Amino acid sequence: MSIPITVAYGDGIGPEIMEAVLSILREAEAKISIDIIEIGERIYNKEWAHGISPSGWESIERTKILLKSPTTTPQGKGHKSINVALRKKLGLYANVRPCISYFPVVENKFGKFDVVIIRENEEDVYTGIEHRLTGNSYQCTKIITRSGSEKICKHAFEYAKKHNRKKVTCLTKDNIMKMTDGTFHAAFNHVATSYPNIQAEHYIVDIGMAKVATEPENFDVIVTENLYGDILSDIVAQTSGSVGLAGSSNIGDKYAMFEAVHGSAPDIAGKNIANPSGLLNAAVQMLIHIGQASTAKLIYDAWLKTLEDGVHTSDLYNKKTSAKKVSTPEFAEAVIDNLGKKPNILHEFVVNK
Ligand code: NAI
Repeated sequence: MSIPITVAYGDGIGPEIMEAVLSILREAEAKISIDIIEIGERIYNKEWAHGISPSGWESIERTKILLKSPTTTPQGKGHKSINVALRKKLGLYANVRPCISYFPVVENKFGKFDVVIIRENEEDVYTGIEHRLTGNSYQCTKIITRSGSEKICKHAFEYAKKHNRKKVTCLTKDNIMKMTDGTFHAAFNHVATSYPNIQAEHYIVDIGMAKVATEPENFDVIVTENLYGDILSDIVAQTSGSVGLAGSSNIGDKYAMFEAVHGSAPDIAGKNIANPSGLLNAAVQMLIHIGQASTAKLIYDAWLKTLEDGVHTSDLYNKKTSAKKVSTPEFAEAVIDNLGKKPNILHEFVVNK
């Protein structure tokens, strides 16, 4: 039976990487039926302030699953982020970002690591509540709730339990923000007591991020607030060799959205050189979510084999470790050719029930 999913091509490199990913899903015979909606800049420029049309919302409400390419959000002015609108409206409280190093196939400075960042997705400064107080001063409101903090910390420990992970690390700045970050830390401590077999630790976010950035191999699952998680997941994704590699899931009680960690990369848009791997990894997470783990494994193993073959887009290309520099569609074709093959160096995909 085909599962209906909503697909949004987004802005910048979005259409190029989505074409590549959909071609792989098609060849792998994923059992999905696709409803394409338009989101992003073109829609803002029409009349819908959230960057998504009423028919777009209807499609997501019907399928409950969105595979989304990145969208462009103006900096310092203009319309609000569609990502924030989607997360809030759909109640996508957990952003799960696996950040894995593919060393030695993809060069990085730190060797092997496998960190999962679980970011609270609805609260913090992303509520978009900002005020001008005087001509000289501005205020941004940070909202942290006890219930939201407990929910995300529970999600992190449940994730660790399900995926046989040993440790959950919490990052906050509760030495300064004693009420907001203090609440998050207290919720973490409370939830941790229900998981005695999983190690729980806490760092102040500044030294914690410095440690993750320099010794990622010492971390396992990390749970943190929205802004810290946003910053940290780009750092770790980049540390693994390219921000173009990591995918993420945004999970709620009713809906789920899957996307790459990176943005719309306007600097390389239209050149067909973007790495579609982040969106492909998001699609792999989507397939697991909709109960198609064997297709997810087929695709993930073929993708690892392609990396091992040294078939790399320009962000990963390195004279020492790469055999061939390829365009976005050529990379997708190489993954399709590898469907059914297993990686030799990198760990093949393990399905966690
Ligand atoms: P970005 O992630 O788009 O780009 C940062 C750098 O990484 C650029 O040099 C870019 O060329 C490179 N890069 C990103 N993805 C790549 C890929 N798949 N393959 C090869 N190279 C890649 O971040 P930036 O420039 O800060 O943001 C651009 C726009 O994207 C902004 O409007 C921002 O708001 C939006 N954005 C959207 C997100 C989403 O829709 N989920 C997430 C992050 C940013």
